Amino acid sequence: MTRILMVCLGNICRSPLAEGILKSKVNPATVFVDSAGTGAWHSGELPDKRSIAIAKKYGIDITNQRARLFLVEDFDKFDKIYVMDKSNYINVCKLAPNNNAIDKVELILNESFPNSELEVPDPYYGGEQGFENVYNMLNDACEKIKIQLENI
Ligand code: 4NP
Repeated sequence: MTRILMVCLGNICRSPLAEGILKSKVNPATVFVDSAGTGAWHSGELPDKRSIAIAKKYGIDITNQRARLFLVEDFDKFDKIYVMDKSNYINVCKLAPNNNAIDKVELILNESFPNSELEVPDPYYGGEQGFENVYNMLNDACEKIKIQLENI
């Protein structure tokens, strides 16, 4: 079983979409996918309505998800931790107990564009188009992740 964690700031916009998209592409018997946020403001909440809507548009239901905080234990529970932006990267790495933990953390868009250090923009304060853009970026990255997982 490979365990993958998607992380953003609030765990209501970007990482719930990343979780839902990757789950839709992989075999749940061999790949476990979850998401978390580095901030706790939205803990226990459903994903943002706009994330729910864009996922639904592409046939993915993310309404079973509830936001939760990223925890130090997640370094042990997951094999790979994909962050959406550099600020998430810094916040997650601050909690890392050792270099092995830091090695698990990767900007998700580096899967689509290796070594580019590109970020998934935070769509929270933008309009619907921001969510379409984020969906497309995450779908491409998750397709790459899926192909890698098939070759493990
Ligand atoms: P996310 O977006 O990190 O993609 O879930 C955000 C959601 C909420 C906030 C910031 C970003 N917030 O400040 O409440």
